[in-house]
Amino acid sequence: MQVKRFGVSLEEDLYSELDRLVLKYQFPNRSQAIRYLIKKYSVEDEWEENQEVAGAIVLVYDHHKRGLQTKSTEVQHDFHHLILSVQHIHLDHYTCLETIAVKGEARDLKMLANSLIAIKGIKHGELVMTAKE
Ligand code: NI
Repeated sequence: MQVKRFGVSLEEDLYSELDRLVLKYQFPNRSQAIRYLIKKYSVEDEWEENQEVAGAIVLVYDHHKRGLQTKSTEVQHDFHHLILSVQHIHLDHYTCLETIAVKGEARDLKMLANSLIAIKGIKHGELVMTAKE
């Protein structure tokens, strides 16, 4: 494939950030890092379309927080068609770890994940998605 060249102008902090990524992920050079970032971004962008993907939502919270579990259950029922299974682990006296396996259109999974992560009292929340092909 033909390689195109173009100049990139970056603010100093972005430039150092790029170099930090090059070092951290051991890219052979800045071009390789930019290639990787474009590729990563475009995969995520494709997911924005109505692609079917599968994944998991991970939530960490304190179950003593008032109303949190009720709200979470409500949201999960609103999106029940996307949820395959829910695993609840009691990490310690306070902390719960919930892993929700999901499948559906990427934009719907993101909406579900964002609604859950936004619940007051959720300490940490993350959505991992994978394309089926
Ligand atoms: Ni628990």
